Amino acid sequence: MIRLYDIRYLRIGTRDLDAAIAFATRIVGLQLVAREGKTAYFRSDKVGARGDTRDHTLVYFEGDPADHTSAFDILDGDDFDRIGAELENAGHPVHYGTREECEQRRVKQFLAFRDPTGNKHEVVVRPYHSGPRYFPSRDAGITHFSHIGLRTSDAPRDEAFWTRLLNARVSDWIGDAPLLRVNTIHHTLALFPSPYPGVQHINHQVEDFDDIMRSYYFLREQGVKIVFGPGRHPSSSACFLYFEGHDKMVYEYSVGVKHIQPGEEASYRPRQFPFAPESFCMWGSKPDIPEFRS
Ligand SMILES: [Fe+2]
Repeated sequence: MIRLYDIRYLRIGTRDLDAAIAFATRIVGLQLVAREGKTAYFRSDKVGARGDTRDHTLVYFEGDPADHTSAFDILDGDDFDRIGAELENAGHPVHYGTREECEQRRVKQFLAFRDPTGNKHEVVVRPYHSGPRYFPSRDAGITHFSHIGLRTSDAPRDEAFWTRLLNARVSDWIGDAPLLRVNTIHHTLALFPSPYPGVQHINHQVEDFDDIMRSYYFLREQGVKIVFGPGRHPSSSACFLYFEGHDKMVYEYSVGVKHIQPGEEASYRPRQFPFAPESFCMWGSKPDIPEFRS
């Protein structure tokens, strides 16, 4: 059984690296840890969800803004070859990272593949951890990078891909959109129907609800477009705030996400929520995010 450990990093293209760096540091509150040529690396882990402090959790590189890759690490590095074989057997061609590509990603090994929608993913082995602690340029209260929304052209098909091949579990559905967990966190991936592929939103957890409200006022003052919230998800119980970032990427801060502990796995039953605004926010906030609206 393949067991993913957690999401590790995102790699996102941009035509304007300076503007992406400015937004990520001054607005989102990430730490720029390196700029190497046409690539910028950002750190976000004060205390990672699993106690990890990842070397970096986001990369912007000069390239196509529609070029998105998400990476996951695995519980057992010995599973690496088996994952590649199982993906190939299921009809998903695998690329094994070269030494130079591994160095760029700061991992020992990785393999790359696409999901049925065409989204790019990587499975990494022995990714680098950070010695120095996270020291952001803006105190947004971020504790760690936690999950992504991912676009899908066929949610039930992609749900089957993640659950059957990569051992993700459905925590809840909102309409056809599955909220998928790979560890105890309610969701690490959420698949939202969309006419095109790519990452749909990027979530960072913050320390407490005060951080959500501090950012709400800060972002408004900075002229950043708030697209949803402050609110609370009835599915994961998390309080949230979504805003539009560089290249119109949606970023989210949230706090209080539910965990499904190992002892609950056998008895946990995913819940079906209707595809309606109140399934995204139990307080009545209305999303200005196309994938959250019918
Ligand atoms: Fe989210």
